[in-house]
Amino acid sequence: MPPTMETRYVFDNHSEHAFDQHRFLARAYDPFTTARLAEAGAGPGWRCLEVGAGGGSVATWLARRVGPDGTVVATDIKPERIPDEPGLEIRRHDIVRDPLPEAEFDLVHARLVLLHLPERVAVLDRLVRALKPGGVLQLDEFDITYGPALLMPDPAARRLYETFLAAKIRLMTRAGADVAWGRNAPAAMRAAGLTGIDPRPRLDLWTADSPGVHLISHHTRHLRDRFVEEGMTDRQLADVRALLADPGFRATSCVMYSVQGRRPGAAG
Ligand SMILES: C[S@@+](CC[C@H](N)C(=O)[O-])C[C@H]1O[C@@H](n2cnc3c(N)ncnc32)[C@H](O)[C@@H]1O
Repeated sequence: MPPTMETRYVFDNHSEHAFDQHRFLARAYDPFTTARLAEAGAGPGWRCLEVGAGGGSVATWLARRVGPDGTVVATDIKPERIPDEPGLEIRRHDIVRDPLPEAEFDLVHARLVLLHLPERVAVLDRLVRALKPGGVLQLDEFDITYGPALLMPDPAARRLYETFLAAKIRLMTRAGADVAWGRNAPAAMRAAGLTGIDPRPRLDLWTADSPGVHLISHHTRHLRDRFVEEGMTDRQLADVRALLADPGFRATSCVMYSVQGRRPGAAG
């Protein structure tokens, strides 16, 4: 029997490491994500769907923004880490399989969810159908195939960093992810019938202080078994952590794409 998505998804919310993963994700990307949601017009009275809400930081932000007249449905296959918040309806829900209402939402948002799902194109169709005519879909997704080393302490450190990034690409691909989904999402959203496609790439300089670097350092623990399956040793993973904490470490981040599109038809 093929593994279910729940077993294939690499970052398990029930892992002891998930709290830190969500914390680093929020610190690294919530300012970008929420600025984009504000640009889309998310505001008082809106009915929103936050898919794969994880630690719930974006869902909470949305609930405060649209309340008290608006509401946010926050879903996840493992929703236990989404905090209670007035105006937030928390649901255990598999976006691949479970029923989803049609023409219900002014805004649908998902960050770093479809990237992991082999069924991402079918899921995208479902998200489009869940929008009211005139509603907005925002997908925030990585392309982890770009992210060059800039300054490393020595050539061996550069090789180690590149080995680590390549192993991460392999392990995620093996689990069904599209590691370049961020760059593929705009065309997929247009093919799904959305209009006014607005893709925005974001790159950062990564240093030892960057939340994005804390996130990838944390992967060496959260995904330790998968890295070992890809041929990395515990010694190498410890050396990666030391490299990422080195004050001289400089790299270009992977690319985060925030892509918006609108369902055709009159708003309101
Ligand atoms: C990388 S985390 C991102 C969490 C959050 N969106 C963020 O950016 O902070 C992906 C989330 O998607 C959830 N997820 C994975 N497969 C899912 C599915 N089939 N349906 C709903 N949620 C899913 C995971 O449990 C996890 O919380």
